[in-house]
Amino acid sequence: MSMENYSPGLEGVVAGTTAISTVGKKGRGLTYRGIAIEDLAGHASFEEVAHLLIHGTLPQDEAELDSYRKRLTALRALPDALQRVLEQLPPTAHPMDVLRTGCSALGTMEPEVGAGNEEQVADRLVALFPSMLLHWYQFHRSGARLSGASDEPGIAAHFLRLLHGSQPDELRQRAVDVSLILYAEHEFNASTFSARVTASTLSDFYSAITSAIGTLRGPLHGGANEEAIKLIERFTSPDDAQQGLMQMLAAKEKVMGFGHRIYKYADPRSAIARDWALRLCGGVGDARLCEIAERIEEVMYKEKNLFPNLDFYTAIVYRLCGIPTEMFTPLFVFARVAGWSAHIIEQRSANRIFRPIAEYVGPERQEYVPIGKRR
Ligand code: COA
Repeated sequence: MSMENYSPGLEGVVAGTTAISTVGKKGRGLTYRGIAIEDLAGHASFEEVAHLLIHGTLPQDEAELDSYRKRLTALRALPDALQRVLEQLPPTAHPMDVLRTGCSALGTMEPEVGAGNEEQVADRLVALFPSMLLHWYQFHRSGARLSGASDEPGIAAHFLRLLHGSQPDELRQRAVDVSLILYAEHEFNASTFSARVTASTLSDFYSAITSAIGTLRGPLHGGANEEAIKLIERFTSPDDAQQGLMQMLAAKEKVMGFGHRIYKYADPRSAIARDWALRLCGGVGDARLCEIAERIEEVMYKEKNLFPNLDFYTAIVYRLCGIPTEMFTPLFVFARVAGWSAHIIEQRSANRIFRPIAEYVGPERQEYVPIGKRR
């Protein structure tokens, strides 16, 4: 076997076909089912985007959107058995582990029945992930059993209401809504690929989503938004940030929230997230976080020619919406479950098991020496 086809990290390898999104394609940019991300983030709600990804089309009119929202709202309540599982998880657990476990547990309570109900399972997960996380969180903080209920029509507002216990203001609600749209889908990224690999064995929907959550958790992928806010908040001023960044770069440290495998010049989602971060900084009258972030962006561009990816400014959006840091990556799950679901459905519709090969670099063939004669 030759190494000629070997590409570390599968860089540049076409691993399948998709009709769900385009990422970094010349003349197309980032689109979900052909619609530009700028249009979706500018005009749509996350529920419209979830419908587009999971069910294949935008809702045709207000009535269809309203009925989809009502369906998702009705799917928000947690089964009693799942509430009890969540209550057993330690308060010190990482919320990503809570979602991964919650998803896996739900798979034992509401398993897929036969073929053809993937879209219902996907809607259930879209509706249920915020309820799962906030039930676990509030139970350990105050003993409250939320059971996932709230009649806020949108997922962003539902999440903020369960987190803060009050009606979210319009600006924050829309900022989170837009972040969910930006996070919803991104072609063959690591977690989506992981979901597709699991689906390709004809495993069940919940196993594929559980694989994806585990893959998203790492700081090189979804976990970068949590690392980004830790970095920004480490500094007291733009000058302090500049000095700190220079030290990190000299030590060859990675700066989370920068760089991308596919994008080489800019991440089209970053400009939208940046705009929302600036709006929120203006809205709460606290420019410091944005000034520090902008200086980090300047230094990274000048020193490394690197640009912020979606996670960098989204981290500021989440901080200014009063969201605890360890919930940043779970918010990514709330959104990306729509994209993962679309990919699992697509994989199943034209399946072939993923099974690449490896170049062997281990020892030469050697004799087996029975135990007792090895020295
Ligand atoms: N900070 C510092 N240097 C970085 C960097 C970052 N965030 N991202 C890439 N680089 C540098 C690497 O050190 C490497 O330099 P070298 O060739 O001198 O060794 C070069 O750029 C290529 O990086 P590499 O990690 O090989 O690229 P990749 O395509 O394998 O990885 C990412 C892509 C996204 C994983 C990578 O850019 C990264 O780790 N970013 C930080 C984590 C992050 O924000 N993830 C969210 C992605 S949406």
